[in-house]
Formats: sequence, C-alpha cells, structure tokens
Amino acid sequence: MATITYVEHGGIAHVVEVENGLTVMEGARDNNLPGIDADCGGACACSTCHVYVDAAWVEKLPGKDDMEEDMLDFAYEPDPARSRLTCQIKVSDAIDGLVVHLPEKQI
Ligand code: FES
Repeated sequence: MATITYVEHGGIAHVVEVENGLTVMEGARDNNLPGIDADCGGACACSTCHVYVDAAWVEKLPGKDDMEEDMLDFAYEPDPARSRLTCQIKVSDAIDGLVVHLPEKQI
C-alpha cells in the first residue's frame, strides 16, 4: 500500500491509498480522479496517463523503458526530466509518499 498524491494542474491535491501491484494510473482511475484519461487502459499505447513526477521522486522511481520513452513524445508538453506514463509505474511500499503533478490537459 502506498499513499500517492495527485496534484491537479490548478493545484488541487488528491491524496489516496493505492494497493501494491496496481499502477499509479489505476490508483487514479479507481478513485475517479480527474486529469488522467488512460484511453488505452494501461497498454502504453496512448500517453493520456501522462504526469510530471515531483522533482523529489524522479530519481527514486525505476527508469523508463524504450516503449514509455517513445510514447511520451506524444504526450502534451512532455518534460524529459519529469514526465512519466502512470500506467508504467507499479505501486509498492517503495513509492509510498509519491507526488505526481497532472498536466494542463491530456492529448
Ligand atoms: Fe495509455 Fe498509459 S494508459 S499509455
């Protein structure tokens, strides 16, 4: 279980508990949070689950694979340093306290 904070573009923060084994995208979807569309359902094929990882967490997360890296090119205003696809981040105790910032919009 991990506590994850999803911060909307306008600054509203949603703090939710997410089960280990789910993805950060599924944590948003299952809690009906706005701002993560996840059109492809988590297949790394749409980029609409894009977020900016809080700077304090960038180095703590497992790295991106090539597929995620390529798909991020299609996200809205990606930041090479902080952008991630939330369907590619597995929830575990290791990411307890993670903070992600939602983009202004998903493409
Ligand atoms: Fe489609 Fe993450 S849900 S790329």
